[in-house]
Amino acid sequence: MMNERLRGKTCIVTGSGGSIGRASCLRFASEGANVVGCDLIAESAEETLRQVEAAGGTMISIHPADLTDKAQCERVVAAAVERFGGLDVLLNNGAMAYFAWIEDMSDEMWRKTLNEELDLVFLMTRAAWPALKKAGGAIVNVASLSAWAGIELLPGLAHCAAKGGVLSITRQLAMEGRHHGIRANSVSPGTIETNQTRFILEDPDWCRVQLGRAMMNRMGQPSEVAAAIAFLASDDASYVTGTDIAVDGGVRAW
Ligand SMILES: NC(=O)c1ccc[n+]([C@@H]2O[C@H](COP(=O)([O-])OP(=O)(O)OC[C@H]3O[C@@H](n4cnc5c(N)ncnc54)[C@H](O)[C@@H]3O)[C@@H](O)[C@H]2O)c1
Repeated sequence: MMNERLRGKTCIVTGSGGSIGRASCLRFASEGANVVGCDLIAESAEETLRQVEAAGGTMISIHPADLTDKAQCERVVAAAVERFGGLDVLLNNGAMAYFAWIEDMSDEMWRKTLNEELDLVFLMTRAAWPALKKAGGAIVNVASLSAWAGIELLPGLAHCAAKGGVLSITRQLAMEGRHHGIRANSVSPGTIETNQTRFILEDPDWCRVQLGRAMMNRMGQPSEVAAAIAFLASDDASYVTGTDIAVDGGVRAW
């Protein structure tokens, strides 16, 4: 039977056209949410909208929307409030990182990664804050295993900085939100099977590092990340704030 934990709750999902974003939109909708998607890439955002509607869910989508632009963030929040009358959940999922080893990391790659992985979380959360205050809402940020550990073979210096920032601002948001009934938490996915990570399965070195370090000895699925996100977004997590859930098959624990 369908779980109705998010019935009547309006949930913004950033990066709704991506792998984890799409899985989250489908999961939120299946739990009864009004979903507000947004993405830089119109085609993939539209495909998510199509899939949610085909599954009988309620969703609007604002695209293309570049969330490194505060006016676009405000536009997404305004659309949610106008269409559904308020905002209960903000899922900061959308992000783009640029990878290089330190000596090849250009100033531009560094700054773009911080802008497109961290600044947009600040801009979107600030834009959503007044509406979240009204609702006593929940924020779920997508951090990463890279916020916790260096990953062999991954030239993720800027990505580590940005996701470390996402992880730590989540604690501050929880603290600042406490008087308003706002909870803030994050998830830290390990290696999740997406179009960008599927090559790992073909490469023995990457398999050793990415799969061998997971107790479960496999990649995670986007839907498995969405399940943890849905818990944190829901009232089932009513006494959970300022923390992080690892969704990494056990990497962090051995
Ligand atoms: N896939 C993994 O293994 C993995 C592991 C750890 C963390 N994560 C995190 O999970 C989140 C989603 O990752 P994914 O694998 O689904 O990636 P993805 O590339 O499939 O999805 C990201 C989406 O965000 C959108 N986006 C990027 N920049 C944007 C911007 N400025 N404005 C609006 N939309 C923007 C992209 O267009 C894309 O649709 C990211 O925060 C990522 O860092 C993923």
